[in-house]
Amino acid sequence: MPAKVPLSVSWEGQEDGFLRLLDQTQLPLNETYRDCRTVDDVWEAIRSLQVRGAPAIGIAAAYGICLGAAAAPLAAETRQTELQAIADRLATSRPTAVNLFWALDRQLDCARAMSESASPAQVRTTLLAEARRIHADDRESCHAIGRHGATLLADGSGVLTHCNAGGLATAEYGTALAVIYAAHEAGKQLHVYADETRPLLQGARLTAWELQRHGVPTTLICDSMAAHVMKEGRVQAVVVGADRIAANGDAANKIGTYGLALLAHAHQIPFYVAAPCSTFDLSLPTGDGIPIEQRGAAEVAEFFGSRTAPPGIHVYNPAFDVTPARYIRAIITERGLIQPVTADHVRAVVGSN
Ligand code: MRU
Repeated sequence: MPAKVPLSVSWEGQEDGFLRLLDQTQLPLNETYRDCRTVDDVWEAIRSLQVRGAPAIGIAAAYGICLGAAAAPLAAETRQTELQAIADRLATSRPTAVNLFWALDRQLDCARAMSESASPAQVRTTLLAEARRIHADDRESCHAIGRHGATLLADGSGVLTHCNAGGLATAEYGTALAVIYAAHEAGKQLHVYADETRPLLQGARLTAWELQRHGVPTTLICDSMAAHVMKEGRVQAVVVGADRIAANGDAANKIGTYGLALLAHAHQIPFYVAAPCSTFDLSLPTGDGIPIEQRGAAEVAEFFGSRTAPPGIHVYNPAFDVTPARYIRAIITERGLIQPVTADHVRAVVGSN
């Protein structure tokens, strides 16, 4: 069966191959691909959101190491320093999604574990195999998240989601959207409300497109409509993804997520976060330490190239916010549910990361 949503990330060829990304900035109108052949290409694609969503960024970065390794001498004495420099460069592309740093660390650990006598060709083969494993593991995790989360959605529910935590943001199938897809495939009648997600409209451009392709009944709303839609009784659950989850369960996700959690709390609607274990950062005790990406003024003062605010106006554009664990009913991981969301339960499920 052909995939309902094209793959966001693929590696073409072998060790001398390249990274092919579905250019998400062009969706939903154009299905075009960006081929990355250098580390700088990958850096630029992540920075500009051609590839986006925490797990997809991590996968792209893992392959970015392979592109760097293909062009590096990789002599035994300098190998680790060369790879570290490539990882350091990729690490500056975006700050919030921890999957990026997790994937880079996995590649560096993989290189460190190789014998001193490994030839440059062997190092490249091993790094490509590790990137492919990261990619395949994410695919499996997404399907497992779907299976665990689907049980939380009752037949006939209205489900609200924010940003895009679907197949486009992962290897395939998604995290928050995996929960919806799995429940839909199990025969439950759901109706999804997709927030448009200003300023970059990941909800309107990507989530609405994905849900349509999966045949899930979907209504697009502006972000400012969420409270009203909840008050009208149309929403029985909120499901979102995450970019980084602290040891106590505080979860960073696309700006606007925290507000939704507060609204859900006020309307007594369960609020769920779906994310793989690679999105947890157990080095941070709480969400206060999560770095929040600040993006350019044009994303807010312009609407896809057309100026909508007066020249010279000050703009604040944080790309993410942090939802405190107390507002999250459960975190849905590939290993099962974290519920209630406490540091002890996070450790019990994710502790062996
Ligand atoms: O800025 P983006 O589009 O990369 O932000 C993405 C999100 O906030 C997603 O909800 C998150 O990465 C989870 S993706 C499975």
